[in-house]
Formats: sequence, structure tokens, C-alpha cells
Amino acid sequence: MSRQIRFNAFDMNCVGHQSPGLWAHPRDKSWKYKDLDYWQDLARTLERGIFDGVFIADVIGYYDVYKGSNYHAIEQAAQIPVNDPLQLAAPIALATEHLGIGITASTSFEHPYTFARRLSTADHHTKGRVGWNIVTSYLESGAKNIGQGGLRRHDNRYEVAAEYVEVLYKLFEGSWEEGAVQRDRDRRIFTDPSKVHEIGHKGKYFEVPGYHLSEPSPQRTPVLYQAGASGPGKTFAAGHAECIFVAAPTKSVLKHYVADIRQRIAAAGRDPKKVFIYTLVTIITDETEEKAQKKFEDYKSYVSYDGSLTFMSGWSGIDFGQYAPTDVVERIETNAIHSFVEHIAGGDKSWTIDELAQFGGIGGMGPVFVGSSERIADILQEWVEDTDVDGFNIAYAVTPDSFEDIVGHIVPELQKRGAYPTAYKPGTLREKLFGDGPYLPVNHPANDFRDIEAVKRREAETVDASLPLKSVGA
Ligand SMILES: Cc1cc2nc3c(=O)[nH]c(=O)nc-3n(C[C@H](O)[C@H](O)[C@H](O)COP(=O)(O)O)c2cc1C
Repeated sequence: MSRQIRFNAFDMNCVGHQSPGLWAHPRDKSWKYKDLDYWQDLARTLERGIFDGVFIADVIGYYDVYKGSNYHAIEQAAQIPVNDPLQLAAPIALATEHLGIGITASTSFEHPYTFARRLSTADHHTKGRVGWNIVTSYLESGAKNIGQGGLRRHDNRYEVAAEYVEVLYKLFEGSWEEGAVQRDRDRRIFTDPSKVHEIGHKGKYFEVPGYHLSEPSPQRTPVLYQAGASGPGKTFAAGHAECIFVAAPTKSVLKHYVADIRQRIAAAGRDPKKVFIYTLVTIITDETEEKAQKKFEDYKSYVSYDGSLTFMSGWSGIDFGQYAPTDVVERIETNAIHSFVEHIAGGDKSWTIDELAQFGGIGGMGPVFVGSSERIADILQEWVEDTDVDGFNIAYAVTPDSFEDIVGHIVPELQKRGAYPTAYKPGTLREKLFGDGPYLPVNHPANDFRDIEAVKRREAETVDASLPLKSVGA
């Protein structure tokens, strides 16, 4: 049997997402992002195509690195205006039965205590179909508007993220025992207080002494997504993520990444096959090669050069507006996405500014595959076979056309080849993906926090042991 390929849709609660300028295409409907009907229609299309999920990216902040200004970001709607992603979870769940809903939220800007309740609420409302894409953020403008002065250093952001998820694991996994909610009318006991625990967290960055406010949701900890690609980012992803996103411009970059991350997952004591890796692509397809190519040429004529470099500058932290189009991108130490700078200035290809603008104009830093359904299916199968990636995180050129084309052309072709699912598995998102139970498996670090009273005793002993001995007579 052919190796199974998984699809995930990559979107954002904004206009044009990663295809700057294509909002002006007459068929693009992304300007309707403010309407719930628009999201529900899209979700139904994706569910028809048995996509694992729709993944809603998010940034707090705006792209003001290019030419030192946010003018082009605002003019070209480059991820501004952008609405809150978590509020899409419930309406999408109401319109669908199976589709996973991955929501991005940053560990840099919101306190874990309030975020834990927002996430549990979404897991309740979706009956366990929500996932959390854990990001650490890269836009200085976001940090400044939250009153932090500026972003923490890149590696320190991952240190904060590690403590952030620990607080969440304590709240989701440890605070409320199984069976705490009794709803016992005869004994007039709704919740048994002896089964609800304070988490007693006192760390370097956060202090959360008390109880989780929500009762346990269907998955307790929602499915964890992550996209770390720097050294500390990959270590974090390997330790925590159940689904990993990667943006690799070429097959060789992807192959190297997948091998590296699977090795790190095994080193973290987890099963590398039980973590799904999705690589970013955009697919432009039609009934024939000629029609697909024509569509691509049409789309390209709408790309905004400044909009594309606005994203590239924001992701890398390098102002590409200060160079000529023929200049070659050089490695500069920045505080934005380290791995992105490594790809474009240290990978197996050197990039001019113009090439970067053209490449990133449709679908960001993933490749664009153009062709008939047979040709695209060949390419997807080849990428999966050659790189060991599990599936594709699919960005759009224009929406919903790009997704409808995939559901109409590519999915049936892959199904015909036995390389794509024909139905969803039952249960929560975690069960649909991995088939085991609704909760994180026992070899996941969250498991360490299920017996929260034991955790508190352990932590108290560690603190006692690290205290200086009192001098005699003190
Ligand atoms: C497909 C994909 C989607 C991403 N989505 C977001 C996002 O929505 N918000 C965000 O702040 N970062 C996002 N990132 C950036 C990652 O969180 C991370 O910073 C990046 O992959 C680089 O890793 P590094 O920080 O370890 O260098 C995304 C990355 C990829 C590959």
C-alpha cells in the first residue's frame, strides 16, 4: 500500500495571508475573513477533502522592518488587519464534525493562567477538536505594544515557553483529577473539592498558586503543534509537539530537517513516528497542465513586490528595502526567526533580493507546485518518499479557490492511488490523528504533572535542598 499523505490547511484570520497582493484578484474572497459564514464554508470544503485540520496562524504586532516602516504592510494588508484566531474555533466546530482546528497563540504576550482557560473553553466547545500552535513570536512591534519595551532574546523566548507549557500542563493535567466533577444530585455535590488541586507553581517567569478555572476538557491538553526550526526551537518541538510545521524551500533542506527532528524526538524518549511533520506548500492545479500554468501566470501578475519583501523582512529581521534587487542576501545576526535567516543566507542556494521577493510572493517560504492532478500527486508522493515528511501544510494563492481545487482534483487522485484517507477516524482530534486515547501519551512530559501533589512535594524538596544552610546560632 502507498504511504499515506496528510493535508492541513494553512490560513490566518486576515486578508491574503501569505500571498501579498493577491487580495486584488477578482476571485479572492479572503477579504470576507470578518464573516463567520466564510470560515464555515471553507471548513466544510476542507472536511470534504478529509484535511486533518485548518491551522490558523497569528501574529501580535505588525511588519515594520521593511524600509523601517509599516506603510507597505498596511497598504497591502500584509497580515494587518488581523483578528483574534481563537474566536474561530467554535463557529468552525459548529459547521463541521471532524475537522481539527489549530489555533496559534504566543507564549510571549499572554499570561498562561488566563490563556489556559481560553484554550480549555475552546476544547469544550469543539468537543476536543482543538489544537494549539505554540509560538514564541518574532515581531518587536508586538512586544512594544504590550509594554515590554522589546522582544526577549530569541533563545530566552524558548526558555520562557518551556516554563509556560509547564504551567499549562499543571493546570490541564494536574489540577482537576478524573472524576472530580460528580454532578451528584442526591448528595448535592457538583464537584468533589478533595479532587481539585492547587498547582503551586512558582517559577522563574510565572507564579500560579491556584486551581485551573475550567473543568477538564475532552483532550485535557489540546493537541500541541509547533514549528521550531532553530537549535532551541527544534529541541522544544521534539520535547513537546505532536504535530510539527516546517517551511523548507527545497527537498534537501526538508530531508535534513525531518531526519534531525525525528532523531531529537527519539532522544527526548518519545516515539518519532507518533509526531507528524507537515511541510509548507502552495498547490496550483486545474484539469490540465496548460490550464494550471495559465492560472499560475495569472496569480503571479497580482503579487505585490513590496508586500512580499515586507514579510521577508519581518520574518528575518533584515530590512531588505535597503538593498538593490540584484544584491545577494547575506547572513546577519537578528532577533527574529533565526532558522529563516539560515535558510536564505546559509542554505544550499544563495538568494538575490529579487528572487526572494518573487519566491515569497505566493505562499511564503514554501515551494509552489503547479500542474494537473496527476503531476501534483506524483510530486507529493515523491516528496513524502524522499524526505520522510508526513504531509503538507497547504497555503493558498487565492481562497477558497486554491482549497477547492485541491479537494476537487488532488484528493481524488491521491485516493485513487491509495495514498490518502477516505474517512476520518472517530473521536477527538488526538484520536483521529494518532488513534490512541484522547489524552497525551504517558511518554509525553505533560504526564509528569498528572499527580500534582507529588510534583509539589518534589519541587519543595528541590527548593529546600538548594537553600543555604543556616549558620550555627542564627
Ligand atoms: C508553517 C509555519 C507556520 C508558522 N506560524 C506562525 C505563526 O502563526 N505565528 C508566529 O508567531 N510564528 C509562526 N511560525 C514561526 C515559528 O513559530 C518559528 O518561530 C519558526 O518556525 C522558526 O523557528 P525558530 O524560532 O526556532 O527559529 C510559523 C512557522 C512555520 C514554519
